[in-house]
Amino acid sequence: MKDVTVVIGAGGIGQAIARRISSGRHILVANHTQKSADAAAKVLENAGFETTAMQADVSDRAMILAVVAKAKAIGPIRALVQAAGVSPSQAPIEAILKVDLYGTSMLLEEFGKVMAEGGSGVVISSQSGYRMPALTAEQDALLATAPADKLLDLDFVKGVKDTLHAYQMSKRCNSLRVRGEAVKWAKRGARINSISPGIIVTPLAHDELHGERADFYQAMLKKMPAGRAGTPDEIASLAALIMGPEGGFITGSDFLIDGGATANFYYGPDAKQP
Ligand SMILES: NC(=O)c1ccc[n+]([C@@H]2O[C@H](COP(=O)([O-])OP(=O)(O)OC[C@H]3O[C@@H](n4cnc5c(N)ncnc54)[C@H](OP(=O)(O)O)[C@@H]3O)[C@@H](O)[C@H]2O)c1
Repeated sequence: MKDVTVVIGAGGIGQAIARRISSGRHILVANHTQKSADAAAKVLENAGFETTAMQADVSDRAMILAVVAKAKAIGPIRALVQAAGVSPSQAPIEAILKVDLYGTSMLLEEFGKVMAEGGSGVVISSQSGYRMPALTAEQDALLATAPADKLLDLDFVKGVKDTLHAYQMSKRCNSLRVRGEAVKWAKRGARINSISPGIIVTPLAHDELHGERADFYQAMLKKMPAGRAGTPDEIASLAALIMGPEGGFITGSDFLIDGGATANFYYGPDAKQP
C-alpha cells in the first residue's frame, strides 16, 4: 500500500499541484477524457511518480465512486485535488452548473467519507466567486450545506442568467462548500480548503482570453496590479502550504490569489463600486 494523491482534472493547475505535493506517493489522475488523464499521467511518470490514469466525469457520482474504490485499493488517500472545471466561454449554463457546482459538491461529499486521518483536500474555485452579486445569508447557507443532489433544484441557482453568472454562482458555492464540508471532514481528522485563482496561464485561461469575453479578460490582465498573469506553479506553492504540515490549522477557508485583480475591480481607478 502506498499513500495516494487523487487529482480530478488533469489540466494545468491539477498537474502542478499533484506534482508539488506528491513526492513518495502514488498519483491517481482522473479526467472526463481518458486522453487527458493518460497524457498527464505520462508527464508525471516521467517526473518520477507512480501513477494511475482513469476516466471519470466529476459530475457523475458512479464514476466518482469508482475513483474512490480505485484509490482505496492503492492505499490511504492523503490528498484530494479538485481541479476539474469548465469556464464561461467553454460550456453552456447547464454544463457549468453540473460540473463546477454540483460535481465539486458531490465529490466532497464522497471523499469526506474516505480521506485518511491527517489527509487534506483542495478545491480550485475562482476569483469569479468574489464578483458574484450578493446572496442572502440563507442562500449562502444552502450553497454551503444543502445535499449536493438538491443544489441544482434551488430557485436562485436555476435562475442564473448567463454562463458568467453560472460560473460565479458555482465558484461562490465551491468556496462556501469547503466551510460546510470542513466540519464533516474533521470527524476523520482531515482538512478541506479552496483556492480562488485569478488569471493563471492554462488552456482554460486561454479560452477566456480569446473567447466571447476576451475584451473583459484582456483589460483585466492589462490592469492587474501584479502586472502579469499567474502560473500554475504559483497555485501549487500555495496549495503545498495549505495542504502540508504547516497548514495544519487551516480548514474550511478560501484563499484568493489573483495578482490583485479583485482589489482592482472593487477599489481600482475604474471601480464602479461606491
Ligand atoms: N486558469 C485560470 O485562469 C483559472 C482561474 C480561476 C479558476 N480556475 C479554475 O481552475 C480549475 C482548473 O482549470 P485549469 O486552469 O487548470 O484549466 P485546464 O488546464 O483546462 O484544466 C481543466 C481540466 O478539467 C478537465 N475537465 C473538464 N470537465 C471535466 C469533468 N466534467 N470531469 C473531469 N474533468 C473535467 C479538463 O479535461 P479536458 O482538457 O480533457 O477537457 C482539463 O483536464 C477549474 O475549475 C477552473 O475554473 C482557473
